[in-house]
Amino acid sequence: MESFKNKVVLITGASSGIGKALAEEALNQGANVSVCARNLEKLQAHFREHPKVFCVRADVGKEEDCRHFIEACLEKFGKIDVLINNAGVSMRALFSELDLNVLRELMDINFWGAVCCTKFALPSILQQKGIIIGVSSIAGYRGLPARTGYSSSKFAMQGFMEALRTELLYSGVHVMWVCPGFTASNIRNTARSADGSAQKETPLNENRLMSAETCARIIFEAAQKRKRTVVMTLQGKITVILNKLFPGLADKLVFKHFLKEPDSPLKR
Ligand SMILES: NC(=O)c1ccc[n+]([C@@H]2O[C@H](COP(=O)([O-])OP(=O)(O)OC[C@H]3O[C@@H](n4cnc5c(N)ncnc54)[C@H](OP(=O)(O)O)[C@@H]3O)[C@@H](O)[C@H]2O)c1
Repeated sequence: MESFKNKVVLITGASSGIGKALAEEALNQGANVSVCARNLEKLQAHFREHPKVFCVRADVGKEEDCRHFIEACLEKFGKIDVLINNAGVSMRALFSELDLNVLRELMDINFWGAVCCTKFALPSILQQKGIIIGVSSIAGYRGLPARTGYSSSKFAMQGFMEALRTELLYSGVHVMWVCPGFTASNIRNTARSADGSAQKETPLNENRLMSAETCARIIFEAAQKRKRTVVMTLQGKITVILNKLFPGLADKLVFKHFLKEPDSPLKR
């Protein structure tokens, strides 16, 4: 099993939720950790005490910020062993009402952010025979209503990761993606509405969801075993299998599930 002691682990979007928990888990395992987010103050407020953490302000929706993040990390630690493309935003709005810029923003952050960080980190990861991870979603296996942009970005990320994994099959580099189920975090508060503004409140009871810490532990265990992919919850596994075997039935069940959400846009 892979040990992360003294490895250099990069995590995008670590000022909150799963990314923050991933950074803490990496530290627990003895890694040197580089983190980025747009809100540097929030990152620094949390990680200031850790001598093994390097914080960088970066908007992964911008190619130059991704380049800067990776170059700054290489300057600081000299190598990259693990890159976790975690930064992401969600949405909740019907496509018929959606400003197209919302869809573009989600593609820029969730898909292009992962592509650009991977591109700039790859030479060092190749040298280290390291690991590239994409934090995806069930929405990357099964399109979800009122989440067209989110689903598109996660499908695109998984396609990119699968193609890259095959390219790198004999290079010693491992590429994997992970699909958390509903996990307590800020993602539903910042989810974009039709006009791009933050939804501000979550339609779910966050206390009843998987914790970000549990999610981070599962991701590190999978990385240690160099698993291909991880679909974390039973609900997620059933959705993926059902969608493959009975896609028409999956359409109906998924519609029904999201219709039940408080203030579901599907009710209109
Ligand atoms: N929570 C769930 O139920 C769930 C389920 C499946 C998949 N996921 C995936 O898990 C990942 C983490 O989400 P989370 O649930 O932990 O959400 P979260 O609590 O909202 O955290 C998102 C993180 O991404 C950062 N971020 C957002 N846009 C960014 C940008 N343009 N550049 C750099 N950083 C950016 C945020 O920091 P700043 O705002 O400071 O930039 C924050 O640190 C996402 O990819 C999400 O799609 C989450």
